[in-house]
Amino acid sequence: MNTAVDRWKLTVVPDARAMSEAAADIVAETVAAKPDAVISVPTGSTPLGMFDVLAQRVSRGAVDLSRIQLFCLDEYVGVSPDDPNSLTGWLQDALIDRVGIPSGHVHALPATADDLSAATEAYEHALAALGGLDLALLGLGPNGHIAYNEPGSPVDSRTRVVDLTPESIAQAAAYWEGEVSIPHTAVTIGVGTLLEAKRIVLLVSGDAKAEMLRRVLADPMSADVPASWLRTAGARLHVIADEDAASRLGSTRK
Ligand code: PGA
Repeated sequence: MNTAVDRWKLTVVPDARAMSEAAADIVAETVAAKPDAVISVPTGSTPLGMFDVLAQRVSRGAVDLSRIQLFCLDEYVGVSPDDPNSLTGWLQDALIDRVGIPSGHVHALPATADDLSAATEAYEHALAALGGLDLALLGLGPNGHIAYNEPGSPVDSRTRVVDLTPESIAQAAAYWEGEVSIPHTAVTIGVGTLLEAKRIVLLVSGDAKAEMLRRVLADPMSADVPASWLRTAGARLHVIADEDAASRLGSTRK
């Protein structure tokens, strides 16, 4: 089902598998049109199915991701990619190595820089020099975050250091099953930076996200729910949700 509301687009699919296929289709379309597209992908559980689909398509030669420029969305402060709790390191195993993105095309957040303020500005410049994001693929945090733009993040925020909320720290700790300690600060791409992307795709799966997705799409936009700012992107925003995640959208789906 495709529905246009306020110009942004919502696609509700039966399950997480269909969401993953739909997201992979958008990546494939993007690189077919522009083989060296500038793309960001989320970390977490949500994109895992999409990564599997992309890895399968790359291995059978249906998609080529070797020329894309990949921008990472967030990283814990002080953590380098070879640390066990690095988000960049996680992405390396979960996607980058499987689909053959060369290391020179991977733009990690400068989480170990001495001068984080200068380094985050340099990250923004590197992105701008490549023309900005062609495609920003995002997941939705249980507290409404996108990347690590936590509640309170302004619509015009840029790439910066943020304090993580207890909820995000607990979410990360649960993901790692207590095997690593989660830092309390992170470097994240900004909401304003993401909003400049030519296409934004928000992936949402499962009934645990249903109430948050309702707040994102149906409540007034607010820094309390940073993902709600995505609606300002209008037609550049495409939300792909499975039936469980969309279960509380009511008339927003019509
Ligand atoms: P999840 O995380 O996919 O593990 O639910 C989403 C996010 O926090 O962006």
